[in-house]
Amino acid sequence: MKNNIVLCGFMGCGKSTVGRALAARLNYEFCDSDAVIEQREGTAISTIFAEKGEPYFRELEKTVIRELSEQKGLIIATGGGAVLNPENAESLRKTGLVIFLDITPKAVLKRLEGDTTRPLLMRDDKEAAVNELMTKRKPLYAAAGHHTVNAELPVEKAVEKIVELYVKNGSKS
Ligand code: S3P
Repeated sequence: MKNNIVLCGFMGCGKSTVGRALAARLNYEFCDSDAVIEQREGTAISTIFAEKGEPYFRELEKTVIRELSEQKGLIIATGGGAVLNPENAESLRKTGLVIFLDITPKAVLKRLEGDTTRPLLMRDDKEAAVNELMTKRKPLYAAAGHHTVNAELPVEKAVEKIVELYVKNGSKS
């Protein structure tokens, strides 16, 4: 059985972009937990937050993470808040290799300039929002990940590093 590879990290770190490239490289199926949630609810994450609130979103996220963790041979891109819940972090660490894609606040701000799809960053002072969240979250991402990969590497380089780690650290169960 092929263990999953899970990508975690801050909004804008490239979990979906790297995840898709990794899935193509390994010929695995790619799954984005946010996309599954949007499909189930029939609407965008920002609308779910606005109409039903963050706790409702986090419950959906927990269910989706649990379901994806029960499958095999997947590349899973998680939402930036998923691994902050210890229950999610535990099921993801059991399902395969968890990679923390580490990015600086500066790079996040550059990549997400003009973005309106992240409700947690829809504040007048986006820079303060990113810095505050990053300070709180970085230790949790690092603890959830089995390994850390620099998210500012070109996508192909990040993919090769992750493949190397996966091959070395037990791609099979
Ligand atoms: C969130 C990150 C988002 C999405 C939601 C909450 C977070 O996913 O799950 O807006 O708490 O960091 P991305 O990391 O894919 O942007």
